[in-house]
Amino acid sequence: MTLDVERLRREEFPWMVDGESVCLNVASTGPLPARTVRAQQEFTRKRAAPHRLSHEEQFGVLSDSRERIARLIGADVEEIALSVNTGAGINLAAWTFPLGKGDVVVIPDLEFPANVYPWMAAAESRGFTLVRVPARSGLLDEEALLAALDRPRVRLLAVSWVGFSTGAVADLDALGRACRARGIRFVVDAMQGLGPLVLDVTQTPVDLIACGGQKWLLSPWGTGFTYVRRSLVHELAPQPVSWMGVQGSDDFSRLLAYDMTWRADARRFEQITLPFQDFAGMATSLELLHELGPAAIAAHTRRCVEALMNGAAERGIPVATPKSRHAGIVSLRPADAAAVSARLTAARVEHSMREGAIRLAPYCYTTLGEIEIALQAL
Ligand SMILES: Cc1ncc(COP(=O)(O)O)c(C=O)c1O
Repeated sequence: MTLDVERLRREEFPWMVDGESVCLNVASTGPLPARTVRAQQEFTRKRAAPHRLSHEEQFGVLSDSRERIARLIGADVEEIALSVNTGAGINLAAWTFPLGKGDVVVIPDLEFPANVYPWMAAAESRGFTLVRVPARSGLLDEEALLAALDRPRVRLLAVSWVGFSTGAVADLDALGRACRARGIRFVVDAMQGLGPLVLDVTQTPVDLIACGGQKWLLSPWGTGFTYVRRSLVHELAPQPVSWMGVQGSDDFSRLLAYDMTWRADARRFEQITLPFQDFAGMATSLELLHELGPAAIAAHTRRCVEALMNGAAERGIPVATPKSRHAGIVSLRPADAAAVSARLTAARVEHSMREGAIRLAPYCYTTLGEIEIALQAL
């Protein structure tokens, strides 16, 4: 499968064609496709005079988003709760999974704080123990993580699919299988993984996925989702509680029934009211990702990442991201990172600095010509 990158750039990211900037920073904020901006604007324009926006249209952007997210990860739509960020899903796990005094939750070191503070806070309040497994040579130590699962009373493992600063990919299949074999719950922060990599939850045993839309899903700020495995939905009572988390709440003529019977599906976890205009954008971005093809996007991203890694190595720049375990992030550790960053900026190469490393992140719209510009600047 190949992707028509030039066409994609012309139609959705015309400013890239104009050479305004080389966008290697989707790991911070994804660019919005032109059709997404149009969808958001159109929705907001109607909402200015609310009678122009039908109930079906308003709630339709949510159901479209759920359906397209489900399709992206091989889930059932009943397993998807929309959220406004990654943290919503992690917090749901930290506060609602059955965890009590003496229970152990394992996380690796080097996690983005969205997958740390909720666990620290919940551990303090709920009395479980949080174990942080040290990294090895600055990278996720998967062996140590697997070994940690055999400690007494481990109930849950939570990891980032892709490390935000290292770009290293966790082997979700291996970790998920190990958790499943031990009856341990497996929670994944998919923020830096979904898009540059593909995922099928019918094959990979994950219990809960938390993911924001603002990076690799090319979606507006304030969009995201939580996947909860079907068999688990019934075991978790919503936290926090939303007025539309209960059955029958779609019928606005019977809101005073006060019947606290949670919805049977993952919508029990959704925090209505959601930013509808932003989900109009997300539904549109997801439509584009499906049109391009998740496998084709992943393959193109891989080519760009490998060209970057090889080019950097040829120039003697230490590449922190492991070659055998990369997704879309390339983390470089040149001797003088600040000077290299300044050269990239001068060449209009959008990048970020994370934990002393230069983070570059190409994606479906990146050309090999742009990779060359970045390499020259290095
Ligand atoms: C791995 C990872 N998780 C989560 C986030 C962000 O979390 P949230 O969507 O809650 O802002 C980031 C970056 O911003 C990240 O790199």
